[in-house]
Amino acid sequence: MGADPPVRSASKLITTAQQHILEQKEIHFPDAGGTFSWLLSGITLATKMIEAKIRQAGLLDILGAAGETNVQGESQQKLDVFANQALLHCLGVRESVAILVSEENEEPVVFDRAPETGKYVIFFDPLDGSSNIDVNVSVGTIFSIFRRPESAEANVKSAILQPGWKQVAAGYVVYGSSTILVYTAGKGVFGFTLDPSIGAYVLSHDNLRMPEQGGFYSVNDAQYTHFPQAYQRYLDALRNGSLGREYSSRYVGSLVADFHRTMLKGGVFLYPPTKGYPSGKLRLLYEASPLAFIAEQAGGMATNGDQRILDIEPENIHQRTPLVIGGSVEVSEFQKRWRAAR
Ligand code: AHG
Ligand code: MN
Ligand code: MN
Repeated sequence: MGADPPVRSASKLITTAQQHILEQKEIHFPDAGGTFSWLLSGITLATKMIEAKIRQAGLLDILGAAGETNVQGESQQKLDVFANQALLHCLGVRESVAILVSEENEEPVVFDRAPETGKYVIFFDPLDGSSNIDVNVSVGTIFSIFRRPESAEANVKSAILQPGWKQVAAGYVVYGSSTILVYTAGKGVFGFTLDPSIGAYVLSHDNLRMPEQGGFYSVNDAQYTHFPQAYQRYLDALRNGSLGREYSSRYVGSLVADFHRTMLKGGVFLYPPTKGYPSGKLRLLYEASPLAFIAEQAGGMATNGDQRILDIEPENIHQRTPLVIGGSVEVSEFQKRWRAAR
């Protein structure tokens, strides 16, 4: 009888998101105790519920409009409502949550928890790319986590209107050909692919880095004539090779899908000011800011032209911002042109 094969612990074969979050906690958040990982497990649980509904969408009465409009004046899809309820429930039962802010709720959801218990404020876009649900195109979920300020005069408003550089963690899930969770807790960016056979997110992209320069630019160029001139000149430069390479255009129409491609392949995504959205369409607190945190942690950049997205001092919870996000080469080139045109 030969020697037994070396026992390799199962955990060495795979690293689940829960294991990784706990490891990150040991390294970076020793003071956070289990609360931080317990908090993130609420998010991963909700996204698994959302993912299951999306995969069955064609079979259930879950497609189409819910017949309501949200605070943004956009018609809510049934999946928007389901995704929002899943996150409100899974996070609401975590006692470390003090406040929840959702794209789908006009007002913040405030929990009556003592400051030493309710330590976190969480923002989320429960379902990003809703207009794509009925045509089976990738959609996503975006989240952003802050600590509740401890100062005595802290109130709901000051807890919510914090600049993006104060984020503790941020992430997104893209429900595409596979379901991938990407998150940062301030020490690098990590991607996990949902393994349906075990129902766990498994580490698949260790320490993700965004290419300094990529091959794609991503913008809804039907609006080109309404873009500020600096954006038009910049797009012309991308198209005529002035940045030293040929670019292809890709636009999914779901921010999370367009951003995830930019994370992996590099390039730049832009949502400029338009006639319909003079301050840009994307919301600062639960779309631009979490993705900006992730982009910077992966070596990329994110700006509204005048300043770093993470430096913007928010004035209201659903405020919109222009967004140019991607590789350092493309975004620095945009900033140069934008400032020269001021
Ligand atoms: P949401 O579905 O959360 O409202 O977000 C939709 C956003 C974003 O996902 C995407 O980048 C953008 O809308 C597309 O807007 P246009 O259709 O105007 O290009
Ligand atoms: Mn969105
Ligand atoms: Mn949404």
